[in-house]
Amino acid sequence: MSEPLLLDGKTLSQKIREEIKGEIEKLVGAGNRRPGLAVVLVGDDPASEVYVKNKIKACQKVGIESFFYKLDKNILTEELLDVIADLNSREEVDGILVQLPLPPQIDQGEVVLAISPEKDVDGFHPQNMGRLVAQREDGFIPCTPLGIDLLLKHYGIELKGKDVVIVGAGFIVGRPLSLLMLWRNATVTVCHIHTKDLRKFTSQADILVSATGVPGLIKGDMVKEGVVVVDVGISKVDGRIVGDVVFEEVKEKASAITPVPGGVGPMTVTGLLLNTLKAYKKRIKAHSTSTMKP
Ligand code: GUN
Repeated sequence: MSEPLLLDGKTLSQKIREEIKGEIEKLVGAGNRRPGLAVVLVGDDPASEVYVKNKIKACQKVGIESFFYKLDKNILTEELLDVIADLNSREEVDGILVQLPLPPQIDQGEVVLAISPEKDVDGFHPQNMGRLVAQREDGFIPCTPLGIDLLLKHYGIELKGKDVVIVGAGFIVGRPLSLLMLWRNATVTVCHIHTKDLRKFTSQADILVSATGVPGLIKGDMVKEGVVVVDVGISKVDGRIVGDVVFEEVKEKASAITPVPGGVGPMTVTGLLLNTLKAYKKRIKAHSTSTMKP
């Protein structure tokens, strides 16, 4: 097969971020405050520190103000809930992102539940997950599924009636992505750690998404000719960033494939910026309506 189409998330992200920047400058120029995102990092996991730094830098570049909270790794759930309650009440904070995973003493479910659904730019709150199930446009779609959807749309990859196979059923990517792919009328299969025969499913996929963080999981002999491959994995192996997919093997059969890095990673951050812009626009609109003179 000829060289596959590279699904370039870096270039598409640049384009979308320019548009976001333009929209923000217009709204600020019209007299509105800047959008604001609170980013909460608990502990000092090096990978999380890199992700958080990238998110803050991306905010700066498009004109979103960021408020960074770095909290001690031994913090108690109650203390973190107090921080979130404060952020929920702040006018200048449109979005709240608590970087996951959290240290083991913290009740992650309680933390997600504490974030105001209107500021839940990660889309992890059950209210937003429910909106995703109900196919309502008024919620927040988690950032990675949102980014993948935009990437596939940009490259004109048809989803209607296609067999989409997702490897990984996590709450951050696989699970919400499966619902979003149903919105697009794909036939969706979700594989996970208990799947008996992974290859049986991956080899049937028209579109294969891997979101496991297991480097080298998807090999060339596990996919069919012409498959579209989306690699969500980000792992460090011998100092190099690699995905779940053995790129050199799978690219021989794929019609399109995301590189790692430069594929899904930047699109996730772009998804976050889009969700923050959405939260901001809703909030400044509600504010202007509530303060309007009769
Ligand atoms: N950890 C890995 N991915 C994500 C994400 O999209 N959001 C948050 N909050 N934490 C993450």
